[in-house]
Amino acid sequence: MKNIVIGSDHAGIELKSFLKDYLSSNDYKITDVGTFDSKSCDYPDIAKSLANHIEKNPNDFGILICGTGIGMSIAINRYSFIRGALLYNKETAKLAREHNKANVAILGARMFSNDENLEFLKTFLSTDFSNEERHKKRIEKLCK
Ligand code: RB5
Repeated sequence: MKNIVIGSDHAGIELKSFLKDYLSSNDYKITDVGTFDSKSCDYPDIAKSLANHIEKNPNDFGILICGTGIGMSIAINRYSFIRGALLYNKETAKLAREHNKANVAILGARMFSNDENLEFLKTFLSTDFSNEERHKKRIEKLCK
């Protein structure tokens, strides 16, 4: 899990930069799909850019950030090859991987501190899918 694509709207730009510092000093290769300044922008446009990247690089993991995480959650889960999970504590970060095989972590920059969001992300990135049959069956149903 070393290739990461990251995106945020204007509300998430500071958290994005904070997380990029952590990721780059921990050997992750990062692709940033924007936004690149604090000017107001629309989260569906960033989610679309991130989805385009994952469609071409299906083994990459995604991180999306907006104020609540809700807009990005709605936007990114419109793409059939994405399983995006809003992380709001360490337990959900772990279960999003173990049970849901989430490939995009979504964070709410205005809901938690940078340090709290980083802890959620670290848990997400260090947890593997459980590979249990019951979870595999449920994920397959999402693709039908
Ligand atoms: C931007 O003000 C805010 O609405 C956005 O970041 C996000 O929270 C939407 O869901």
